[in-house]
Amino acid sequence: MSEHIERVLLSEEEIGGIVSGLAARVSRDYAGKKLLLIGILKGAYVFLADLARALTVPCEIEFLRVSSYRNQARPGALEILTDLSLPLEDYDVLVVEDILDSGRTLSYMLGHLRAKHPRSLALCAFLDKPSRRTVPVEADYVGREIPDAFVVGYGLDYAQRYRWLPYIGVLKLEE
Ligand code: IMP
Ligand code: MG
Repeated sequence: MSEHIERVLLSEEEIGGIVSGLAARVSRDYAGKKLLLIGILKGAYVFLADLARALTVPCEIEFLRVSSYRNQARPGALEILTDLSLPLEDYDVLVVEDILDSGRTLSYMLGHLRAKHPRSLALCAFLDKPSRRTVPVEADYVGREIPDAFVVGYGLDYAQRYRWLPYIGVLKLEE
């Protein structure tokens, strides 16, 4: 375990089980549909790769990149950095996100995508911290609800570090 990790919240094995369960539900719900997974960069890249490989239905894959208000001088401003080039009218879109926290990022993303009139639009978040919500957003698929702790690994970063960890860990706070 990394010296910067206080404790492991979800082991690699637990993550595997959660992803299998989500993939089974998504595969069942999207059978016969034209599924497009849209991953939110950067955090969703690991989860999306695992989820897509565990699906038993075909899907297409796109990514959206959104600026992080967390690192901005002017909080509240979110903007799309890399937009989609394909029209969404024909697709059943499933947004894939690493974690649902305040809900601001996903609420903004959903508005942006809804304006492109996909056939359907749903949300899949690997982790959810419901106690942190400031904007009313619920995910249709949630891997695991977690308490209010800052977690890293499995795509999630702290200052761009720890995305590579194969488990979800609680970051040790600096003394
Ligand atoms: P929201 O807009 O507040 O819901 O924040 C969502 C984004 O904040 C996620 O996509 C993550 O990039 C980041 N985030 C929120 N909580 C954590 C955490 O515990 N660890 C790492 N990143 C987080
Ligand atoms: Mg992030």
